[in-house]
Amino acid sequence: MRRSEPIKAVRGVRDLLPAELPIWRATEQAARDVAHRFGYEEIVTPVLEHAELIERVGEDTDAVAKELYRFDDRGGRNLALRPEATAGVVRAYFEGGLNQGPQPSRLYLIGPMFRYDRPQKGRYRQFFQFNVEAIGGTAPGLDAEVIEVAEGWLSEVGITDLRLEVNSIGDGKCRPAYLKRLKEYYRPLKSQLGGDSQLRLERNPLRLLDSKLPQDQPLKAGAPKITDHLCPECAAHWAAVLRLLDSAGIEYQLNPFLVRGLDYYTRTVFEFYPGGAAGQQDALGGGGRYDGLAEVEGWPATPAVGFASGLDRVTELVDASSVPVRPAADVVVLPDGDLQLEAAEVGRICRAVRSVSVDYEPKSLRAKMRSANKLGARWVVLFDAEQARRRVANLRDMSSGTQEELDWVELPTRLA
Ligand code: HAM
Repeated sequence: MRRSEPIKAVRGVRDLLPAELPIWRATEQAARDVAHRFGYEEIVTPVLEHAELIERVGEDTDAVAKELYRFDDRGGRNLALRPEATAGVVRAYFEGGLNQGPQPSRLYLIGPMFRYDRPQKGRYRQFFQFNVEAIGGTAPGLDAEVIEVAEGWLSEVGITDLRLEVNSIGDGKCRPAYLKRLKEYYRPLKSQLGGDSQLRLERNPLRLLDSKLPQDQPLKAGAPKITDHLCPECAAHWAAVLRLLDSAGIEYQLNPFLVRGLDYYTRTVFEFYPGGAAGQQDALGGGGRYDGLAEVEGWPATPAVGFASGLDRVTELVDASSVPVRPAADVVVLPDGDLQLEAAEVGRICRAVRSVSVDYEPKSLRAKMRSANKLGARWVVLFDAEQARRRVANLRDMSSGTQEELDWVELPTRLA
């Protein structure tokens, strides 16, 4: 056999090891619990989509223009690893006939997303999202509900020090006139803008508002605010959303410059940040209303609102001590000598009532005891060849150190 360098994981993607997963599973379980409490049902959509679906919904966004994992499959189809789930969930809502069911359709999804971003802490090329989407409803109550689900989940996992920023970015009726004003404001200042922002001025002027470039900041402060230019319908919707948040006791900050990184939003947009430090931190989650997305995908116009949050970032903030640690196995079976059949049988007997790990390896009893200790097992079942012939074993309670000899058949009652 040729020896070679071990092959490591792909850059920007990572393994989640057993020690980390209890926090992940507890965080996911809280997400499911909160979603169910609000009447949301789970949906799973594929990680692979036609690249065109993704490109259509966000050709001007970084996640699509610069960060899309795109490739041709063996049949020459142009596919993409999904950078986000909303486009796929909307597709599935129509293809699966959920649009024929009760409206709005309340859906949640947990799964991996892929963005070819520059990897760093909290930013990965494969990351996991908890998504909530309410499709087929126009009411401002739904916008506030989605925010309440997000907030309820984050506080359930113990992240209470949060900053929620909200904004309304209008719709197809009022936004064009606002964008015209925005361009008029920025055009004379063009030479003072950063390079990327100069390009955005004509293509996607709304994104000038969330520019992080230092030289853009003083210019931004004087820019017209979209919330001052909403049409009466958008203004009424926005006022209703804020009233609902107030009555739910949800604290928020109005941020007239919040526009979000994806193109498909209308009206309400929001983002959650970890509390304390201001500004530059990465968002824990975000979302908003996307009344135009279905039509862009080629389906009948259908209003919707949703949010997504990165589990990689949220689990980072969950206090490990709030999650119960479970040993890999409650019981370890330790035969003294090569007693493979007998050890397997004793394991099977105990497994009726407890999780059991059997140590088959040809190690000394001392070495086996050491690994049983490391596993954190509550009990150890020990026997040698002579005891195996009598079908008995010593049951040792690892916390008290007490030990008694029992018939194998008595073990389940004692361990239960
Ligand atoms: P997004 O803001 O692009 O929105 O992503 C939502 C969240 O996913 C972010 O706030 C962040 O926590 C997490 N996230 C994004 N990129 C990464 C990354 N490279 N590594 C780790 N975490 C990341 C959306 O995806 C929209 N689909 C949300 C939505 C649902 N809007 C309506 N419905």
